[in-house]
Amino acid sequence: MEGDIIRLPEMLEIAGRFGARVMIDDAHSVGVLGEGGRGTGEHFGTIDDIDITMGTFSKSFASLGGFIVADESVINYVKHFARELIFSASMPPSNVASVLKALEIIESEPERRDNLWKNARKMHREFRRLGFDIGTTETPIVPIMIGEDMDCFAFWKELHENGVFCNAIISPAVPPGSALLRTSYTATHTDRQLDRVLEIFERIGKKIGIIS
Ligand SMILES: Cc1ncc(COP(=O)(O)O)c(C=O)c1O
Repeated sequence: MEGDIIRLPEMLEIAGRFGARVMIDDAHSVGVLGEGGRGTGEHFGTIDDIDITMGTFSKSFASLGGFIVADESVINYVKHFARELIFSASMPPSNVASVLKALEIIESEPERRDNLWKNARKMHREFRRLGFDIGTTETPIVPIMIGEDMDCFAFWKELHENGVFCNAIISPAVPPGSALLRTSYTATHTDRQLDRVLEIFERIGKKIGIIS
């Protein structure tokens, strides 16, 4: 929700101490984190220490469906007990084709990932310079902390009317009184688009009193 990255090495160490398995939900990380875009494990150099990795095809893969990576016995269990694999239709071939193409692009065009990180760093830097609280984000998901739900809705509505889309996040997705606007960036956003977003945020932020 807030763009921070789990402290995986510490988590693996604690799991190791207690004999627990570690499962990572890498929905927001595949294609984004790690030199090759392989996710949180690659980011920390601990890819082989994770027991179960799950991800979705609905974000960086621009499709639908998802995956689980684990030992054969775990996969076998999931295949026989997961409701979705028993009574639901499988992915349509067109969605599978999109995923395969996206995977090929993630692997063969790292310059897109470089651009994504360039865009993310610019937005971190510029939102902070304007005085917005963006928490502890380290990634292309950049929350703008608002506080009260009604301020969040008012801000979101004005953004929308000015052609900027983001997600308004209120309780129970975050604690009451910690409403935020979740913005996220792609590899293909241009500097011109990002500057426009910043300009609009600055104007509305001042109007609503989130920044001075
Ligand atoms: C962390 C996380 N995991 C899993 C999912 C599930 O994604 P989907 O149902 O689109 O496959 C989401 C979607 O928002 C997510 O944010």
